[in-house]
Amino acid sequence: MRKFIFTMATLFLAAGISCQQAAGQQLTLKKQFIEQQVKDAITQYKVLQKQVPDGKFPRTYTAATDVIEGAGSNSWISGFYPGTLLYLYEFSQDKSLLVEAQKKLDLLEKEKNNKGTHDLGFMLYCSFGNAYRLTGDERYKNILLTGAGSLITRYNPTVGCIKSWDHNGDKWKFPVIIDNMMNLEYLEWASKVSGDKKYKDIASTHANTTLKNHFRPDYSSYHVIDYDPETGNVLHKQTHQGAADTSAWARGQAWGLYGFTMMYRLTKDKVYLDQAGHIAEFILHNPNLPADKIPFWDFDAPGIPNTYRDASSGAIIASALLELSQYVDASKSTTYLGAAETMIKSLSAAPYKATIGSNGGFILQHSVGHLPGNSEIDVPLSYADYYYVEALTRYQRMLEGKNIIL
Ligand code: GLY
Repeated sequence: MRKFIFTMATLFLAAGISCQQAAGQQLTLKKQFIEQQVKDAITQYKVLQKQVPDGKFPRTYTAATDVIEGAGSNSWISGFYPGTLLYLYEFSQDKSLLVEAQKKLDLLEKEKNNKGTHDLGFMLYCSFGNAYRLTGDERYKNILLTGAGSLITRYNPTVGCIKSWDHNGDKWKFPVIIDNMMNLEYLEWASKVSGDKKYKDIASTHANTTLKNHFRPDYSSYHVIDYDPETGNVLHKQTHQGAADTSAWARGQAWGLYGFTMMYRLTKDKVYLDQAGHIAEFILHNPNLPADKIPFWDFDAPGIPNTYRDASSGAIIASALLELSQYVDASKSTTYLGAAETMIKSLSAAPYKATIGSNGGFILQHSVGHLPGNSEIDVPLSYADYYYVEALTRYQRMLEGKNIIL
């Protein structure tokens, strides 16, 4: 058997096929292809940088008026623009990207004291988390630890979750959305750095409660679970951004896949790996997943195939599948890696990838923010760009035989 593996590896190398020896994975996208995508992304972000409104964070772009829509630092999307700049800086060592990211980090810092949202993982960890990793600046570490303290004020031990939203108080008492899984990497980091295990205990409990209540028998997830904060009982299972309470909102499935994959990495609890695998199977075997593997905005959206795609879901799923492909057996690994490669290839071409100089400088087109709210339909979105660039970064590291987790 060892001789067989050795022979296969030699054959791949002889044929000039890239392969990542550690996981035995055969990579089909070439280094030059990935590098070109990153180069294009940098060119685009320099276009975007010139148009971002002062004191704001780019959210989307309206082609009809040629206007970049900005958001304040308290928006859930504020961390993605500096985060993307930091990934691009890491790739290129182009200092101007770091300088622009730092300008936005200064604006963002005050959100470390924001106790009114669960989105601090997106806002602070995607931004300051990458900044700390790349610069080692202790100031960033302290901002992150203060923010983690703010985030856990929203934790209710009776429910076993962090409360997501304070809005719609007449409708929900203690809403928890599947997106909230994305905070858990931040909390795990906070325990590791501070030595205080309270953050990681909250992360595990939140993940376990989500696993128990958010999923249907087919492993698709509800968007919103509303809890009774006094008893912890589930009051409602609903949607906010999806097509229906019973539907599979695409980005929700993406957050769940990414969240449970990451929780397996950080805890080595096999239950999370199994859950991530089930979610991946739901997505990849879904009859409504198109051949280019970029989902419609909801897997059960009315009018499929005559409705909108969501490139942001494709980007998040691609990044998550690259990671998951490293934790599973060879056959699943090939499936997950192949699907991620298809997604990256699709996103790196028309109609998703914008032509250079267009799209206000955003990299990707065709995402959906909140269709039922009639907001951000078929537009560029900063988080689509962030997870796309993250997927490119992860893939590049696989090509280099490095650990893909940064
Ligand atoms: N976390 C909000 C969204 O995914 O739209």
